[in-house]
Amino acid sequence: MNVAFLLNGTPVRVAGEAPTRTLLDWLREVRGLKGTKEGCNEGDCGACTVMVTDAEGSRALNACILFLPQLHGKAVRTVEGLSGPAGEMHPVQAAMVAHHGSQCGFCTPGFVVSMAVAHLSGDRAHDDALAGNLCRCTGYAPIVRAAEAAASEPVPEWMRADREAVKAFAAGEAGVFRPSDSDALADWYVENPDAVLVAGATDVGLWVTKQLRELRPVAFLNGVEDLKGIEVRGGSLHVGACVTISALREAVKDRLPSFGELLRRYASVQVRNAATIGGNIANGSPIGDGPPALIALGAVLHLRRGDEMRSMPLEDFFLEYRKQDRRPGEFVAGVSFPEKAPALRCYKISKRFDQDISAVCGCFNVVVEGGVVTSARIAFGGMAGVPKRAALAEAALTGKAWSEATVEAAAEAMAGDFTPLSDMRASAAYRMLTAQNLLRRYFHDLNGVPVHVLEVAP
Ligand SMILES: Cc1cc2nc3c(=O)[nH]c(=O)nc-3n(C[C@H](O)[C@H](O)[C@H](O)COP(=O)(O)OP(=O)(O)OC[C@H]3O[C@@H](n4cnc5c(N)ncnc54)[C@H](O)[C@@H]3O)c2cc1C
Ligand code: FES
Ligand code: FES
Repeated sequence: MNVAFLLNGTPVRVAGEAPTRTLLDWLREVRGLKGTKEGCNEGDCGACTVMVTDAEGSRALNACILFLPQLHGKAVRTVEGLSGPAGEMHPVQAAMVAHHGSQCGFCTPGFVVSMAVAHLSGDRAHDDALAGNLCRCTGYAPIVRAAEAAASEPVPEWMRADREAVKAFAAGEAGVFRPSDSDALADWYVENPDAVLVAGATDVGLWVTKQLRELRPVAFLNGVEDLKGIEVRGGSLHVGACVTISALREAVKDRLPSFGELLRRYASVQVRNAATIGGNIANGSPIGDGPPALIALGAVLHLRRGDEMRSMPLEDFFLEYRKQDRRPGEFVAGVSFPEKAPALRCYKISKRFDQDISAVCGCFNVVVEGGVVTSARIAFGGMAGVPKRAALAEAALTGKAWSEATVEAAAEAMAGDFTPLSDMRASAAYRMLTAQNLLRRYFHDLNGVPVHVLEVAP
């Protein structure tokens, strides 16, 4: 490994480390930069938040699930790099002091880095920006007050320096397999079918930090530029596998607002900035949020092995629990789906509103013409070993009048679609009742009744 990046403005080169060495461990153990804290070591708490800048801009990321090669050619700014050249505090730091935004202080470095990145990019949605930072003792009100107070302060000059510096920075070869296009990836993966592909590492990172697995060989996909595109062609969105959830959210939030809202509740800013849609599909989790929405949209998945491309309806990719229709050496190239679907609604049910995994995720796309259902696509996460369509419920709707009676019949039919499990997130009975109730909610939602948990008035 010969990875190079800027650390708090200074070029560093890292050699002799395992390719799965995390930035957090390296910062603390090798560089002695202990301001970046280890809380959960799995992307959940934000205590390890750092700012990472590349040609596209600056974003907050969790250092605990970020492997060093993912930083090649970029700029990293830790909490130690937030103050000015003469030691002056960043406006968010000063505001945290003024508004009593810290008690034990363990979470504070992560908070101020998230706040500084939001401040730099002019993001005023403070609740969203801070949803990935957990504070167990101060409470959020003083922290959000600090973010609000700092918002009107100008961005300090030194915070803009990374963007310019990174353009002039010549990182050279990374010394790990980090292809710059999908042809190179395709050739290499056919030769190395046992390799682990690392996209955002928001799943793979935990194999290392929690399961202590040694992963070799590894391919880092974050340099594969041609898999990062989002194109509109003939009424469809074509999304490359390496598009992050943040970028996908930006692309769909006006076109498919309910999908955009679902992605707002997908993990946290830090995780969305790293996680890719290709990784979300490829890992085949039964509780991933991307697949149910995409299946309800009628998405088509594109796979590539060597020079061979093939496509399939996304639902056909998921064969059984953690088993996908993917051959050795084959990777997810992208996914395409309709650009517009006015009837699409996505409902995520989780114990916490923010930064939580779905107990049930229900996505509905029922087209009604002249009072009659002409097509119905309903897909759930959390109801089976794979993301799965509710085929019996769909059949009970199709061709029928769009009425409460039809919806009741379809809700009953849905009982035959799934045999959900009980686990720490929800019982089987809760899941089934919730799924049926989501269909009822959808009926009211399409009829214009406010149903969003944040919209319903007392
Ligand atoms: C704190 C936290 C919260 C989370 N919350 C949510 C949530 O709310 N909703 C949700 O759906 N998920 C959530 N996740 C899970 C995770 O973010 C997603 O599954 C994510 O999209 C994975 O993408 P990635 O790019 O990080 O994949 P990686 O971790 O890099 O890879 C995941 C798997 O996919 C494979 N892979 C990656 N790219 C490709 C490709 N192009 N072709 C073939 N295989 C590939 C990898 O080899 C690996 O097996 C959360 C994760 C964390 C850590
Ligand atoms: S230590 Fe908790 S998110 Fe990294
Ligand atoms: S100040 Fe103690 S956890 Fe946030």
